[in-house]
Amino acid sequence: MRKKTVLVTGGSGFIGSNLVRMLLASGVYRVVNLDKLTYAAVPASLRDIEDEEAYVFVQGDIGNRELVRWIFRHYRPVGVFNLAAESHVDRSILDAEDFVQTNVVGTYRLLDEALSFWRSLPDAEKETFRFLHVSTDEVFGELGASGFFSEKTPYAPNSPYSASKASSDHFVRAYHRTYGLPVLVTNCSNNYGPYQFPEKLIPMMIFNALRGNPLPVYGDGSNVRDWIYVEDHCRALKTVFERGRIGETYTIGANCEQENIVLVRKVCEILEETFPAAGNSALKDAGAARYEELIRFVTDRPGHDKRYAIDSSKIRRELGWSPSVSLEDGLRRTVRWYVTHLDWVKEAGRGHFDDWLEANYAWRDEEAQ
Ligand code: NAD
Ligand code: TYD
Repeated sequence: MRKKTVLVTGGSGFIGSNLVRMLLASGVYRVVNLDKLTYAAVPASLRDIEDEEAYVFVQGDIGNRELVRWIFRHYRPVGVFNLAAESHVDRSILDAEDFVQTNVVGTYRLLDEALSFWRSLPDAEKETFRFLHVSTDEVFGELGASGFFSEKTPYAPNSPYSASKASSDHFVRAYHRTYGLPVLVTNCSNNYGPYQFPEKLIPMMIFNALRGNPLPVYGDGSNVRDWIYVEDHCRALKTVFERGRIGETYTIGANCEQENIVLVRKVCEILEETFPAAGNSALKDAGAARYEELIRFVTDRPGHDKRYAIDSSKIRRELGWSPSVSLEDGLRRTVRWYVTHLDWVKEAGRGHFDDWLEANYAWRDEEAQ
């Protein structure tokens, strides 16, 4: 069977690398990965598949029209999974410039080139082409103690990151309504799992704990996130790409809400079982007998959204998708993965991560009063 070519942007990032691996493993797709290789990309994440015949890597920016045009004409993809983005809320608070450039301007240019390419296709190919834009539940703002985000929730982004993602979602929607481009949008909750860059909560805690460094919990740790194992998200993306209704939005989540502090304690507990603190000299140097002793409550993130939770009944009902990994199981898999992939951890840490932490995380330096 001839493989179908898809363009995945941001394929060298966390979710992207898991998605690229899943698409290749299906045997159905040839994947062209367009990635700028920013600080968040870890080349080692795709080392095991980089020599596969069905994998093509192009280093570049989604905002580079000439390059994107060439990719569409040269590889003639049957669709796009757009994951390329600046993705970290804390960085967006410090400086949103790259977020606007990539998430807003870059997505707009990619979309516009996709439209030109789509218009050039014969009718049969026009019909099957899809542009799947991968977005976040953070565009909906925050929830109080009850309720869920769904496809009907109005947009109310609170951080520069979520504002930039909301803007790109609107452009994608507008390109369907105005020009008829066959788009799909997904808004997913917090992902975790292998290959996540250690600036995000769960890998940050594993990373720091292993090195005997403090585990910074923002505010009082009562903020709630709804966690989904990255492979469940990738399976949802593949499902929406293949069977989603054109022009529709799907919210994706696994009903795994957890307070940050409870989650961090759970990670410490699993680490204790997997890589006991007693055998870790870094802990001894830090004067701690257990990982949990490294937890520090630090000054809260400005504008910190209180709670996220997803109602994913539409994708479950219409497309038959459901998550398969529980939070407990997913956390165990994740901790085990990090502990057994210390080379990846080292490569992900490469200089700029530590430098950046030192230079920019001003509010985390102080312990909350
Ligand atoms: P990530 O930061 O790990 O990876 C982003 C990737 O995009 C990197 O490989 C980076 O090099 C690349 N990139 C950045 N700017 C680019 C540009 N201008 N051109 C080409 N490539 C560029 O992010 P992630 O966590 O894997 O998230 C992927 C997507 O999923 C993002 O769009 C994000 O908004 C969305 N999302 C993430 C989560 C989550 O919990 N991580 C949840 C829902 C949605
Ligand atoms: P994060 O992984 O940055 O994802 P997002 O902000 O997109 O939800 O953070 C998840 C939660 O963990 C969020 O409530 C902020 C909190 N957090 C900490 O308490 N300490 C940390 O060091 C980090 C990175 C996040």
